[in-house]
Formats: sequence, structure tokens, C-alpha cells
Amino acid sequence: MRTTAVPTLLRAFALGRRPRGVPTLGDFALVESKYNGLEAGQILVRNEWFSVDASMRLRMTATQSPYLTPYAPGDLLDGWAVGRVVETCADEFEVGAYVFHYAGWRNYAVLPTGPAGWVAPRKVVVSQTTRPEHYLGVLGPSGLTSWAGLIHAGELRDGDVVYVSAAAGAVGSLAIQIARLLDHRVIGSAGSDEKARYVTEYLKADGAFNYRRESVSAGLHRLASNGIDLYFDNVGGDHLDAALEAMRPAGRIVLCGAIADYNANEESRPGIKHLFKATERGLTLRGFLARMYADQWDEFHRNVSAWLAEGKLFYPETVVDGLESAPQALINLFEGANIGKTLIRTGS
Ligand SMILES: NC(=O)c1ccc[n+]([C@@H]2O[C@H](COP(=O)([O-])OP(=O)(O)OC[C@H]3O[C@@H](n4cnc5c(N)ncnc54)[C@H](OP(=O)(O)O)[C@@H]3O)[C@@H](O)[C@H]2O)c1
Repeated sequence: MRTTAVPTLLRAFALGRRPRGVPTLGDFALVESKYNGLEAGQILVRNEWFSVDASMRLRMTATQSPYLTPYAPGDLLDGWAVGRVVETCADEFEVGAYVFHYAGWRNYAVLPTGPAGWVAPRKVVVSQTTRPEHYLGVLGPSGLTSWAGLIHAGELRDGDVVYVSAAAGAVGSLAIQIARLLDHRVIGSAGSDEKARYVTEYLKADGAFNYRRESVSAGLHRLASNGIDLYFDNVGGDHLDAALEAMRPAGRIVLCGAIADYNANEESRPGIKHLFKATERGLTLRGFLARMYADQWDEFHRNVSAWLAEGKLFYPETVVDGLESAPQALINLFEGANIGKTLIRTGS
């Protein structure tokens, strides 16, 4: 066993109780446990960064799904994280190596290193142009989601006019820029004037609107009066409904997320009124998860790393310091308080 200084106590967030509506701080519990050392094949990673993701809210509800294993009260929360190996009982992971893995929401992670599919820990390269936290965003799951959603699920085609909702967020901000870099006209929507300005000024969208100031229908009519070919849906609800009306014949809608629904129970979700537009216009609606395109990882990395190194991709982050701040950072996603990827810098 090789080691550097190891902790005596491990700290992590667990689900305290199931939230009703938007989570509150009382729904989370910070727990401590004694560090008992490693078994063969395990590594101890000091997390430097971890990701905060809206989909965690779905897991806090009891519904069983093959995509999202629900948390029971008392279960440790998790998610993408990156950190350095501080102790190892696995030959291929040396002390000091940077590791990308799925045991976020804690200061230290004890990880098995055998095959674990999509969430298996893997070593990552940190350089002057590639920082550890990039693996949680632009070069990680958010980036793959944007790339695969546009190129593969959305079958982006020459001349497509693209609309992206939650355009100032982690996935949306990259989807906007990838579509622009591939020479498409692209429209975004976001929840404030400041964010809408940000989407045009920094992300270089052709147009953006604040859906709290004008309806999604009005914004789309104003900025894409001839209709849209590809809608990258991060929101669902009224955004999806309005986009259905604005689609051109044979258009495509990629159902990436439905954040507008995550805090609502099934009975109170408004439902989609314009679904028949899909029939009338021969639209394709395709739901997807980034992990369904895990085999596109190399293609995505090659393209997005090159844009990043050439300075062509602007990558916004909302960085929040300290493990203890993570619950509020998750709550903030539902209040639109973030721009770009929300990351916790543990500083542990
Ligand atoms: N399919 C996949 O594999 C996959 C992977 C990652 C993420 N996702 C999904 O993609 C979506 C975006 O994720 P992200 O990581 O990029 O999150 P994010 O955009 O960084 O944060 C969420 C944003 O959604 C907006 N929002 C929150 N509640 C809303 C509501 N009721 N109506 C409209 N907008 C609302 C807020 O922005 P505003 O201020 O603009 O309202 C907020 O900043 C989420 O639905 C997420 O679950 C899917």
C-alpha cells in the first residue's frame, strides 16, 4: 500500500428526508464516518471538485427508474467528482494521480477500481489547458451531453436553425456554442435579461430572450420567425410546448432534460398541449442520456478539446467553495442562480 497523509474522518452528504417541491437545507444531512483504511483494489481519493446536477432532485423522489436509482433517506448522495489519489491499493492508480469518478458530495472517496461501466474511476490528464474541473463540465458529462445531443440524438444538419433552452446553464451554454462553431443560426432562452445578454455577448448566439419577460412562443416568433429545425430541450413544460408550435416540418426535438418538472408531483405537471404538431409536421422527438453515447467519448473529446485549446469555447462556471455549500448550490439551480456549470471546490 502506498500512501500520503490520510484523514481520520470522512465527511459526506446524505439525503436527510425526501423533499417536497424545491429542496430545502433541512432535506440534507452532513454525516461523518471513521476512515478504516483500504482493501485490496481500492483507492482513497481526496475530492477537489464535484458536480452539482439538477437530476439529483429526481433521485430524491422514490420512483424507481433504470436511469436514476432513487436515494433513500440516509443514503449518501453522489455525482461526478475529480480529485487526487492519496492512498492506493491498486497498482494502476498511483498516489498523486488525478481521478475522475462518481463519488461526489463528500470530501474523500473510497473507490473500488474494477470495471464499473460508465461510472468506473479513470485517470485524467491535467495540463496548462486542461484543468481538473474541466472533466466535470466542458470535457466531461455536460460537454458530452451537449455534443451528443446536437450531433447524434439531434442529427444536426447543414442549415438547421437551432433553439436551446436553459441556454446559460452547463449543457445549454455548450450546446449554443457548438451549434455556432458548426455555423448554425442559434437562439437561446434563459430566465433573466442578464442571462439573455450573456448568451448573445459571450456565447455568441444569434439571439436570446428572457422567458420571464416574454413568453417562449413570443420569443421564438420574434427571433426565429421562419421556425426552428432543431430544439435542444433542457426544460420541458411550457418551453417544449411552445417549441412544438414553432418547429418546421421534419424538425427534430432532443429531450435532454425537463427541469421545469423536477420539483412537481405527477398530478401538478401541466402536460403538453401541442403534441399533435409532431404528427402534422413529421417531427422526431428523441429522448437521450449522455451515457447512451459513451462510445462517442473520443470523438467528443477530440473536437471539444481542440476548440478549448484554440480559445474558441468560452466555458462558464459557477464555483462554490466548501462541501457544506453543496445543498444550497443544488437549490440554486432551481432558482436559476447559476451561470454555466455549478461546481463545488471542496478545499478539503
Ligand atoms: N440527458 C442527459 O444525459 C442530461 C445530462 C445532463 C443534464 N441533463 C438535463 O439538462 C438540463 C440542463 O442541465 P444543466 O446541467 O445544464 O443545468 P443548468 O442549466 O446548469 O442549471 C439549470 C438551469 O435551468 C433553469 N431552470 C431551472 N428551473 C427552471 C424552470 N422551472 N423553468 C425553466 N428553466 C428553469 C435555470 O436557468 P434560468 O435562469 O435560465 O431559468 C437553471 O440555471 C436539466 O434538465 C438536466 O437534468 C440531461
